[in-house]
Amino acid sequence: MNIIDKTESKAAIDFERYRLRRFLAELPPEEIENRNEPTELAAVAAALDGNPRAVHFRAVGPERHELAGNVTGSRARIARALGVAPHELLHEVRQRLANSPSVVEVARTEAPAQEIVLTGSDADLTALPVHLQHGADGAPYISASTDFVVDPKTGWTNVGIRRLMLRGRTEAGVDLNSPSDLRAIYEASAATGQPLPVSFVVGSHPIDHLAAVMRLPIDDLALISSLRAAPLPVVKCVTNDVRVPADAEWVLEGYIDARGHIEPEGPYGEFLGYYGAVKRNPVFHLTAITRRRDALFQTASIGGKWLSRTDTALLNAVRTEVMVWRALETAVREPLAVHATPSSGGMYTLRAKLRQRVPGEARNAIAACFGALTNVKHVFVVDPDIDIFSDEQMDWAFATRFQADRDLVVMDGMRTVPIDPSLMGSRVGAKAGFDLTWPVGAAARLEMRVPEPPRFGGKRFPSIEAALADGPKFFEELMSAVGSRDGREIVRELEALRAKVALDRDADGRYLIKSK
Ligand SMILES: Cc1cc2nc3c(=O)[nH]c(=O)nc-3n(C[C@H](O)[C@H](O)[C@H](O)COP(=O)(O)O)c2cc1C
Repeated sequence: MNIIDKTESKAAIDFERYRLRRFLAELPPEEIENRNEPTELAAVAAALDGNPRAVHFRAVGPERHELAGNVTGSRARIARALGVAPHELLHEVRQRLANSPSVVEVARTEAPAQEIVLTGSDADLTALPVHLQHGADGAPYISASTDFVVDPKTGWTNVGIRRLMLRGRTEAGVDLNSPSDLRAIYEASAATGQPLPVSFVVGSHPIDHLAAVMRLPIDDLALISSLRAAPLPVVKCVTNDVRVPADAEWVLEGYIDARGHIEPEGPYGEFLGYYGAVKRNPVFHLTAITRRRDALFQTASIGGKWLSRTDTALLNAVRTEVMVWRALETAVREPLAVHATPSSGGMYTLRAKLRQRVPGEARNAIAACFGALTNVKHVFVVDPDIDIFSDEQMDWAFATRFQADRDLVVMDGMRTVPIDPSLMGSRVGAKAGFDLTWPVGAAARLEMRVPEPPRFGGKRFPSIEAALADGPKFFEELMSAVGSRDGREIVRELEALRAKVALDRDADGRYLIKSK
């Protein structure tokens, strides 16, 4: 099915609204660092490593290119891209996924992404601001490269993010090792001996990157439009028939040759925080570069010690949460929130909050999360009172509501992500679930209630004795009963009352007058 509309009026299209440059320009100072001074390519990695802010380099390398990094390296920034607060992000993404898409083809003359067209010897990967990201990387990598490919079987455009290891002016290794739609499309096409046309967009709005990491069975151009909640303008590339967003910053056009997984690619600082080894991967050949006149290049943070500040972990987290939410909606009726922690790469550690209706539901939720995604490894399930975005609250629930012999669920021999170094080379691994919920019905006990400052909202009485004659009362209720803003005089009154009536306490500690 062709989803591209060539007739719709182009007047409605705003080519600036979903521009990376515009997104950065609208970030508040706490989310963006502007580096106006010239920066050598060799200094870019250190400026981004662990940096909680996005960085806009205004003059990188001798060409003084503009470069943005860490753009989606915080949940707050991704949420801002969708106009919501961080805790509303998953809900907003889920709602937008239901939007009707509109993909509109525009003429080349209208497309900002083709304001400048470089072909022949002018199309040179080594003229781009591409830096060495980690000490043992095989070469400088383009890391925020979003690939657009047409699947010949469906006619749909597949979109993902794939790194490119520079191997010359017009050649780069492309990592197609993990199972993905692109890998399947490429291998089918290589089997027929045909090169696969591909265009990489570099410089994307965070919403486009979110769409790129989702793996849903639809045309990904439509997915970008749904998530943007706006018509997506696309333009046909100059040297292949792929359509890319017409409002992109840079486009690298070309093809992946049909020779298969033959070229050494890597090592590379990977998304679990460690190096991935050298792999054999296919080769991308550049045929043209197109760009905006004031194009902004982009780099993505992936590996290293500060996973919770990387583009990869934050984008993966939203993908994981969307997939897990779907599984939980089927498995248990009332999921209340899910969160994939960015420090676990946005997938290995998953927190789920639910209202258990019957015993065993927390375990059903754990099983559903295990099955929802290969990448989910450790699942923590909590009751509605716990804030799953708070490490403190999660640790408290873990410390006080969990018994290892009762609440631990372990499954071994499960499919895993092979680059997990703790597997020590094994192809299957273990998953663990931690049920941190109270047993159903147990929360009525005082010892499970959470102490809070007194609220003094109870009923008023003429005296302490009258209040106690009404029934057993907590000390707080006695203070409220007589409007006390101190409390110590109540102790004195109770002392005096003890001489007059039979004063006692019940099991919860309430004061009462014993009947004779
Ligand atoms: C910054 C970033 C870089 C990525 N690089 C790669 C990569 O080089 N190779 C890969 O297989 N997946 C990579 N991914 C993950 C894929 O983009 C993701 O799994 C995507 O959903 C695959 O799309 P597809 O299955 O439609 O082809 C990367 C993700 C991010 C956020």
